[in-house]
Amino acid sequence: MAGLFDPLTIRGTELPNRIVLSPMSQYRAVDGIANDWHFAHLSRFALGGVGTVMLEATAVSAEARRTPGDLGLWTDAHAEPLERIVEFLSSNGSVPAIQLSHAGRKASERRPWHGETPLDDEDVELRGESPWPSFGPSPVAYSAVWPEPIEMTEGDIASVVGDFAAAADRAQRVGLRALEVYAGHGFLQHQFLSPIANQRTDRYGGDFYGRARFALETAEAIRGVWPDEFPLMFRVSVTDWLDDGLSVEESIELAKQLRDRGVDVIDCTSGGIGGDRAVRFPLGEGYQVALSEQVRRGAGIATMAVGMIWDASHADGVIRNGQADLVAIGRELLDEPNWAHHAARQLEVDSSHSLWPPESGWWLGKRQRAIDKLGLRP
Ligand SMILES: Cc1cc2nc3c(=O)[nH]c(=O)nc-3n(C[C@H](O)[C@H](O)[C@H](O)COP(=O)(O)O)c2cc1C
Repeated sequence: MAGLFDPLTIRGTELPNRIVLSPMSQYRAVDGIANDWHFAHLSRFALGGVGTVMLEATAVSAEARRTPGDLGLWTDAHAEPLERIVEFLSSNGSVPAIQLSHAGRKASERRPWHGETPLDDEDVELRGESPWPSFGPSPVAYSAVWPEPIEMTEGDIASVVGDFAAAADRAQRVGLRALEVYAGHGFLQHQFLSPIANQRTDRYGGDFYGRARFALETAEAIRGVWPDEFPLMFRVSVTDWLDDGLSVEESIELAKQLRDRGVDVIDCTSGGIGGDRAVRFPLGEGYQVALSEQVRRGAGIATMAVGMIWDASHADGVIRNGQADLVAIGRELLDEPNWAHHAARQLEVDSSHSLWPPESGWWLGKRQRAIDKLGLRP
């Protein structure tokens, strides 16, 4: 069985190892445009040996943004600064990937450290950031403090599907080689999938197949422009953790339907649909790995496990035991961008710092030999 440091070829693309930077919004873009912050932030992980570096949730239109600081890809001007980032990631051995997103009823939100609540006049005064109208499958608010979204017409749905495809096309033109659709954590794609947010009675609502139509049409539209040799992934909240929410069984069926439309990997997360009811999460190390395992076995598709994965042996075991094909690491990589290099050493895949860039690896290897010889450090 393959382990954490074995490459994985999906279609014509080789991912150098099984470690993926989980997409993490930085809230630092201006009008959706990337800048030096994104370059510096993402570059660390390529230098740190992460096989696939995934850019954060990137809005497919201006109103698709969650916060005023979200990255976007709705014009060619948005694509331009990504080129330098993508080129750096590629030339340092990582596969550059991007997550495309639409916030739906969770649009027009304050950054986490400004409260994670809807923007209002106070934000205009404090930061010059005005709220904008939000859209959703049904006029059902995310929670009591959120506004009701505008119910999308079939025309609106078709236009958002087109926005995803247009952004995917820009993504491949700047050299991105893997693409993920954000269909989890309560954002627009998830809002359509979950009966908690989708109360439509037309062909985009109702039973599971109605609720899945938007996601399936998005997958088809993206596959129409996204090169055949590049992986396409979907991040799905496999369960809402609510009896009347999206279930694991439905997500397995969704995975099969997506697989038949050219999706290669399901990135298995959970929760986030909102509502004012308490949700009981079994939070702990690798708490969503079991969901990945269920989707992988149930749908016969490659999966990515995510959520509180921080130990190298555990991550390696998840791959070796067939619970996932990839692991996405978020906060642990923020804490230690060189986590992959340390994991390789811990797993005895790289005892001589040969996976590090030589600018640091050569010195660290030399120091290690001195340490070992003199018995200076355990
Ligand atoms: C700062 C930050 C920003 C995040 N932004 C996104 C995002 O843009 N897209 C997404 O799918 N998940 C996002 N997440 C969730 C992470 O990708 C990941 O699923 C979550 O943090 C659990 O993994 P971890 O325990 O390894 O951090 C974010 C998490 C953090 C901490």
